[in-house]
Amino acid sequence: MKPSQILPCLVGVASGACTQNQHVVRNGTELSLGGEPWRPVGGNAYWLGLDENIVPPPPGEPFDARTNSSYPTRGRITEAMEIIRAMGGTMLRVHTLGSNIGNPLSLLPGNRVINEKAFETMDWVVSEARRHGVRLMVPLVDHYDYYHGGKYNFLRWAGYNLTFAENPEDPLIMEFYYNQSIVTDFKWYIERLLTHVNPLTNLTYAEDPTIFAYESGNELYGDKWGDKNCPTEWVRDIGRFVKDLAPKKLYVDGTYGINADHFAVEEVDIFSDHFYGPDVARLQEGIDLVADAGRTYFAGEYDWTGGSGDDLNEFFQVLRESPIATGDAFWSLFGRNSPNCQQWVNHTDGFTLSYGNPENSPELTSQIQLVRQHLTLVSTGEDIGSDDPLPDVPCV
Ligand SMILES: *[C@@H]1O[C@H](CO)[C@@H](O)[C@H](O)[C@H]1NC(C)=O
Ligand SMILES: *[C@@H]1O[C@H](CO)[C@@H](O)[C@H](O)[C@H]1NC(C)=O
Ligand SMILES: *[C@@H]1O[C@H](CO)[C@@H](O)[C@H](O)[C@H]1NC(C)=O
Ligand SMILES: *[C@@H]1O[C@H](CO)[C@@H](O)[C@H](O)[C@H]1NC(C)=O
Ligand SMILES: *[C@@H]1O[C@H](CO)[C@@H](O)[C@H](O)[C@H]1NC(C)=O
Ligand SMILES: *[C@@H]1O[C@H](CO)[C@@H](O)[C@H](O)[C@H]1NC(C)=O
Repeated sequence: MKPSQILPCLVGVASGACTQNQHVVRNGTELSLGGEPWRPVGGNAYWLGLDENIVPPPPGEPFDARTNSSYPTRGRITEAMEIIRAMGGTMLRVHTLGSNIGNPLSLLPGNRVINEKAFETMDWVVSEARRHGVRLMVPLVDHYDYYHGGKYNFLRWAGYNLTFAENPEDPLIMEFYYNQSIVTDFKWYIERLLTHVNPLTNLTYAEDPTIFAYESGNELYGDKWGDKNCPTEWVRDIGRFVKDLAPKKLYVDGTYGINADHFAVEEVDIFSDHFYGPDVARLQEGIDLVADAGRTYFAGEYDWTGGSGDDLNEFFQVLRESPIATGDAFWSLFGRNSPNCQQWVNHTDGFTLSYGNPENSPELTSQIQLVRQHLTLVSTGEDIGSDDPLPDVPCV
């Protein structure tokens, strides 16, 4: 990148050093930033590029009533960055910076059609993350058929009449990976995404170190739940394509669960798994496998509420004590409905971390404090304890 393209350098999270223009790099089982060890810890904010939770949005704002899609306000995006910093996080995982597909407001409303308007929100997300020293992990596609689209859109555009609701286990779903015409369509999209120049930074997404990792997809599997059957050749093909366009990006295997066949794919820097709820044995087993393969491990989603699974603190301890660089992201972060500072956004999956919401129960507040203790311990080494009051984050 040319010197004129470099923004003023601000303080990074982990080291206190100036790292905005440096890439996260992997050496074996370690990640580093600016020469210091670095760990990705934070949360998921899937909605930052395109949301489904504000119905209807403010008058005059674009709205797709079929999917409830609208662009989040700039204030909501900035607040999410401030919340994750206040929680001690170093990163956010954001589906809709990649899987933003298939409805009129999406970046990819139709096959090989780019909606430039969608970039305005995405560009703001990237530049606000950059300004706050927050790094982004971005899944390129989604296994399911939500408002932000995914595999099924590519299948339907190619003439396969499938929906996740009606055809969750149809063998034809595998054509997303095997049909080279679909693979080429997917790569067309990836190339448009990674070569887009963000006017707020004058960097392409491929160049900007703020996006530290692209993930092949979210919770990818084959035609049976839990089969981890994302073909090895496809994982390699997409990884090579991403690294040709963006050689400094880390590549995450978005297969749902650790598929040991994929250790043969040199392009994969990070293997990942999701936890509803926390499962200490599966976590430990995954970390051990990935350590043997000489890569890093990321728990990309977990239920932080304490409502299911193993004790969350035990789960965190395994992540912290792991001999390899590990990271994790809770599911999922929401804040206020800015510019309405009196209203917190509701998402109804039961896992909403509604930071600062006065209606949070004492139990949920102490879970949020536990998550913050963990994120802060990993990012700074400091133990603030599990009952440190949550810092106020101003409404933006
Ligand atoms: C990578 O790690 C190995 C083993 O820890 C070390 O010997 C080597 O110097 C490191 N390479 C770089 C480029 O940091
Ligand atoms: C859209 O939002 C409305 C109001 O919250 C809800 O009743 C409806 O089910 C939503 N539609 C979709 C497709 O999610
Ligand atoms: C792949 O999909 C295309 C439609 O996009 C179709 O014409 C072609 O027959 C498919 N290829 C195979 C091998 O099924
Ligand atoms: C697609 O499948 C649905 C049933 O799942 C059917 O109602 C519809 O007619 C089919 N569309 C086409 C174009 O074949
Ligand atoms: C980006 O480039 C344009 C045109 O050269 C320039 O006007 C603008 O100030 C640049 N923005 C940044 C953030 O560097
Ligand atoms: C969230 O739910 C509360 C209570 O049902 C409601 O008063 C509020 O308007 C909702 N907020 C949004 C952003 O929809």
